[in-house]
Order: sequence, then structure tokens, then C-alpha cells
Amino acid sequence: MLTDLLSLGETAPADISRILASAAALKKDLQRRKTSRQLAGPLAGPLAGKTLVMIFEKSSTRTRLSFEIGMYQLGGQAIFLSPRDIQLGRGETIEDTARVLSRYAHAIMIRTFAHETVEAAARAADVPVINGLSDKHHPCQVLADLMTLKEKKGRLKGLTLAYVGDGNNMAHSLLEGCAKSGVSIAVATPKGYEPDEAVVAGARKAARGTGARVLLTRDPALAVRGAHAVYTDVWTSMGQEDEAARRRRAFAGYRVNAALLAAARPDAVVMHCLPAHRGEEIAADVLDGPRSVVLDQAENRLHAQKAVLLLLMGRPPQEKTRRSR
Ligand code: CP
Ligand code: NVA
Repeated sequence: MLTDLLSLGETAPADISRILASAAALKKDLQRRKTSRQLAGPLAGPLAGKTLVMIFEKSSTRTRLSFEIGMYQLGGQAIFLSPRDIQLGRGETIEDTARVLSRYAHAIMIRTFAHETVEAAARAADVPVINGLSDKHHPCQVLADLMTLKEKKGRLKGLTLAYVGDGNNMAHSLLEGCAKSGVSIAVATPKGYEPDEAVVAGARKAARGTGARVLLTRDPALAVRGAHAVYTDVWTSMGQEDEAARRRRAFAGYRVNAALLAAARPDAVVMHCLPAHRGEEIAADVLDGPRSVVLDQAENRLHAQKAVLLLLMGRPPQEKTRRSR
């Protein structure tokens, strides 16, 4: 039983499929309500009376809005907190913060730097904790990405996704999410920017159970060859701003442009979690071109996260096993 969403490596394939199916149904329902001009019915929703507290230690457009609007559409409430607003920013520990929030709220979402902070919050909290991005993982984004891929291709099993760029949080969650969903993944990074070895080993193990393949290479053209989807992300993630110049040099041959895309399948889709830097990791004509599905990915954050919120908050509280206290 899923009690937190920290990474897709720790999420069972059956839970991933359940979330994707529920997200598709929620999307259909919202579209039906929009066409019939019905309101989402916030007071009568399944999470009526429930509160999600969100701690953002980094900036966000999509994650903040999709969680906030998602909670509203389900009848609940979301509260946004930055470290400036709460005592966390003045040195109160994440454990004390999580314990206190558990006395008020029904779930906690956290976007932070060290992944250990999310893990510490989950250990201390009595309520579900959702990782809204850490330096190591971005599971909510990849749930939306898998949903998008399934919508565009009609299936997941048997597809191949190429990821070109930094072996960062997005690469890690894609490795885990793809391997668990039967999507083969080829990751092309420059030397020194490879994904975490333990994450790759976990993905390889999961892939053995689903028939997916996991390939690591330095060659973007090799990764992209025959792919159904070509994915990239920024070269400099939040918190790495001091390394930007060095990273621009290291990643110069890892731009997703029309020439690289030509090696993928003719019907390959172009994916990016956004925000994007046109002319760096992706050429403007590719990001804004007809094969780009980036806005569908952004929209699907709302539907996929509503499915996560329902799964974690829409049932009686689960007893969480405390690993430390
Ligand atoms: N993709 C994503 O997580 O976007 P935000 O940083 O805007 O939340
Ligand atoms: N890798 C990026 C993802 C942003 C959604 C970052 O961490 O900044």
C-alpha cells in the first residue's frame, strides 16, 4: 500500500498503473464538466475538508499550480509555504516541521534540495509525504509524462524513450518510471554527468520484470535512433547556477535539434518537463514544433497529481511505519 510518493523506484508498478488509469478517468471527467459548463463542485469533492500543505524551497510554476488547483477541484484546500514564511527557514528541523504539520494537515508536499530532506520528512510525518522535486527525483513529473506518452501512443509497453542531457532528477525518475512501465530507455549524457549508479541498477532490475531495456551512452544519436519519444531537460538545474558556464560547455553536443530528431522514428514525440531554455538543451523550432507534446505534459501534471492525491488522501489514514524518532 502506497503511503508516500518519494520516488518511482519505491512505487510498485501496479500503483503506477493505477495512478495512470485514475488520472485518465479524472481528465475525462474534468473535460466532460467543462463542456457541460458544470463547476468542479469544490464543496462536494472527494477530499472535502482535507488540507495539503506544500513547502517550496525552490521556485515552481507547474507543480505549485497543479497541486493547488487539483486540491481545489477535489474539494480540498492547499496551503503554500516558502521557507521564508515558516520556522524551517530559521533552523527548525524538517522532522519537527513534519510532525507539527501532521497535526493539522492530511498530507505534505515538499520541493527541496537534498532528497534526504524528503525522506526525513516522510519518516517523521504521520501523514503522506509527496516529493514535488528533489535534487535526485521528480516522480510527479514522470507520472504526467507516462500518462502523456500513453495518450499519444496508445500504450506504454514496447515503446522506447531517449533522454538526452544531464543525468539529473528527471533522468532518474524517467529511468525508474519507464523501466517499471515496460518502456525501454536510452540515456545519453556527457562524461561526468551520468545518472546515479544505484538508480540505474534499480531501473535495470525493474526492466527485467517488464521486458524493457536500459541503455547508457555518450552518443545522443545512438540514444535517439528508433525512439518513440525524445526527452530533454535543462543543463543547469535549480541550485546549480554557479556551474552554468561549465555545463554549457560540457553539454554543447547534447542539444535536441532537428538534425538529432531526424534519427528518431518519424512519428516520435518531443518531451520536456519545462521550464525550457530555447537554444540550449533544445532548439526553439523543435520545442515549438508540431511534434512537441510539452504542453500536454504540463496539463497532465494536474490529472496525474489528482490521482496521487486521491490515492494517498482519499482513504482512511494509513499507519506509517516509523523508521526513526
Ligand atoms: N516541471 C516542473 O516541475 O515545473 P515547475 O518547476 O514549474 O514546477
Ligand atoms: N532538472 C530541473 C527540473 C525542473 C522541473 C531542475 O531540477 O531544476
